[in-house]
Amino acid sequence: MNDVKILGIESSCDETAAAIVVNGRKVLSNVIYSQVPLHTLYGGVVPEIASRKHIEKVNQVIRKALSDAEMTLDDVDAIAVTYGPGLVGPLLVGVGAAKAIAFAKKKPLVGVHHIEGHISANYIENPDLEPPFMCLVASGGHSHIVKVSDYGKYEIIGFTHDDAAGEAFDKVARALGLGYPGGPKIDKLAREGDPHSISFPHAVIEGSPYDFSFSGLKSAVLNYLNGCEMKGIEVNRADVAASFQQAVIDVLTDRSVAAAKDFGCGSLALAGGVAANSSLRETMKQKAEAAGLKFYNPSLILCTDNAAMIASAGYYEYMRGIRDDYSLNAVPNLKIGVR
Ligand code: KG4
Ligand code: ZN
Repeated sequence: MNDVKILGIESSCDETAAAIVVNGRKVLSNVIYSQVPLHTLYGGVVPEIASRKHIEKVNQVIRKALSDAEMTLDDVDAIAVTYGPGLVGPLLVGVGAAKAIAFAKKKPLVGVHHIEGHISANYIENPDLEPPFMCLVASGGHSHIVKVSDYGKYEIIGFTHDDAAGEAFDKVARALGLGYPGGPKIDKLAREGDPHSISFPHAVIEGSPYDFSFSGLKSAVLNYLNGCEMKGIEVNRADVAASFQQAVIDVLTDRSVAAAKDFGCGSLALAGGVAANSSLRETMKQKAEAAGLKFYNPSLILCTDNAAMIASAGYYEYMRGIRDDYSLNAVPNLKIGVR
């Protein structure tokens, strides 16, 4: 069979990205324009600014992805684009660009779910990884335990009842005065602290052993900081960062390993921006292997938002015969595994 070359486009939040991936696993190019410095000033992503920047950058990024892969649009077999979930304005920019290319070049169009993209990042560097497997997806907007029963077939086993793990990292980082995005900054500071110095809550959802809740943890950290301030006690920020991070990692890892075992999966994968956390990667590997599970995680550049993961997910959707027409729209709250 001929190679299938997919152009992936991602613009759901604050990264404008395009990539060319062959047969879902081989990356020929992966171009990411990060808007993070633009949004740092505001302490988080400003949707209107993000949309405008995506419009400015999307064509440049696509052109660069094609030139890095030494290809033209005529060589592409299909266009895969994130159509949800995410911020509606930013999503519309990528969807609009993808539809214009598909129309002009008469190429098939495949809408991709952002989280299914994050999960598919694991296929890229792990040629042996095949469904079924369990995957923890932890990003700025999502914390899910997902069973990948087959290519394109997803079942949600656990989810967060309030904040996503990445959101908790970002909010705690802000309270510690570390700035945005908080995940990488807490990751770094936590290395200098004692993860067992402060006891923060590990919320359990009654009757839902694989679900998460991080808002109580976030409040506990804020209360701890306020309490220290009121009592005039100097805060050891590294200890707070390490203890908070440890509480998040404990629940994410224990519940994911339990889900993989209880649902009979032999493999556990990690995905999403929080999967870039060094301590989470190490702890998950140790616990998964101790439980007899094979462990997979994407390299750092494929954890946070990128278009190679969208092209990979798009390939498997394309091979299943999924095609979208020009009515494809942005769906900010798109559910996982809807088709
Ligand atoms: O997947 P992603 O790039 O965007 C979304 O789909 O949300 O994830 C971004 C999130 C942010 O909350 C960021 O703070 C977090 O991932 N993150 C991290 C690390 N790197 C990024 N969290 C913890 N440790 C990190 N090293
Ligand atoms: Zn993401």
